[in-house]
Amino acid sequence: MRNNTQPPADLLARTAAPYLAEITTAAQELALHGWAEANAGNLSLRLNDIPEFPGPENRLVRPFPDLGGIGFLITGAGTRMRELAKDPVSGLCLLRLNRNGTGYRFLCDLEPSSELPAHLATHAVLAQHRPEHRTLIHTHPTALVALTLLYPEPEALLGILGRMHSEMDVFQDRLTALPFLPPGSEQLAQATGQAFKDYSAVIWARHGIIATGPDFYSALDLIQVCDKAAQIALLSRNLPGSRVSRPQGKPMHKARSLKGWNAPDGIETFYKVRSRDSHLGPEQFAGLTRRPVHIVLDNLRSAFNVGSIFRLADAARVAELIPCGYTAYPPNNKLEQTSLGTTGSVPWRRFDETTEALRQLKSKGIQVVGVETAEQAVPYHRFEYRFPTALVLGNEALGLSQSVLELCDGIIDIPVFGYKNSINVAAAAAVILYDIASRTGWLDQTETAR
Ligand code: 13P
Ligand code: ZN
Repeated sequence: MRNNTQPPADLLARTAAPYLAEITTAAQELALHGWAEANAGNLSLRLNDIPEFPGPENRLVRPFPDLGGIGFLITGAGTRMRELAKDPVSGLCLLRLNRNGTGYRFLCDLEPSSELPAHLATHAVLAQHRPEHRTLIHTHPTALVALTLLYPEPEALLGILGRMHSEMDVFQDRLTALPFLPPGSEQLAQATGQAFKDYSAVIWARHGIIATGPDFYSALDLIQVCDKAAQIALLSRNLPGSRVSRPQGKPMHKARSLKGWNAPDGIETFYKVRSRDSHLGPEQFAGLTRRPVHIVLDNLRSAFNVGSIFRLADAARVAELIPCGYTAYPPNNKLEQTSLGTTGSVPWRRFDETTEALRQLKSKGIQVVGVETAEQAVPYHRFEYRFPTALVLGNEALGLSQSVLELCDGIIDIPVFGYKNSINVAAAAAVILYDIASRTGWLDQTETAR
């Protein structure tokens, strides 16, 4: 895609001349902030009156009819900002799309930036929606990128940035965020272009930001205000009364409205980062495979225990929870106190009779395993499960009823060595479930890893 034809004498230099001061300032600022490591970042400017020039034509992956005949100054791939600041013309390409926007020619010794797809997709949108916005700056602001790691959900990230300092009141509505998409990719280009219909700056998770304005100074302003907010968020997050620990963005999912967002001493707890699935939207989460373990609760007395088991069932992403008999089920105030909102993320159904639930499960080939200290019980850590399996947990005082035990394909217990000779039913469920999870390798599976 190299241009072999001699460029028309000094066309690039003449075109760039009116913009050299702002390009130099922008490049200098990006470099001095430490956001432009190696060749990080790129700039572009949309220009209308660029004459046609000769040279081989490069085809575009997708056409931009609205940009037909439009010219651009764009940094060359691999350009260092600190060098651009010293000698802007040598780091720039002059590029012009053909009449129908299906290909382009360019003048420079370098290839145009690897983010050309995102720059073109964005300029196409800006040309139509906000023609006065002619510049684009992409860079890698350190604090902002760090914050995208801590808050992968755009809503939470934007909520935090918006509260960090007063300037953000002005900029907040012009800013949005995208999840990680590969640098230089068509996906990143398309998502970015779409976002610029409504916004003037788009954060790219784990990568950086791209911003527009009528000139490079105003695009730079946006980026500097955002990174300042990100720096404040990071610097203040461990201080008592930190505002970072109270994201205003509404939770993505009912199950994500964790009370634990605020540690009692105001120290940020970052629950969202620790859960493997909390970056997912409700639809994506609903599409994840659930573990082939059903939990049947046979006449549990305590609604608090049921809530704890809901929370556990969410954490281990089990197939379903089946409260039976007089076991509490949602909505229930006591249950909600310990379930911490997980009744929305765990599939559940209830039966009047535990035996009826077990018969239905068995008819579908599901192994039924009772948890009970009985003569024939196998210690849980030695039991051979056959999946799918259903764990049946019984009443805290009375245990499992005889009719339930008779329907079990196996019985397990947890060896105990104390005076009381039993443990809490929710604790027992946790021990058994996580033993299964570690034996089956589920703990090491990163189905949802980013
Ligand atoms: P270029 O040097 O190709 O412009 O790439 C820098 C960059 O930041 C890519 O996202
Ligand atoms: Zn980049």
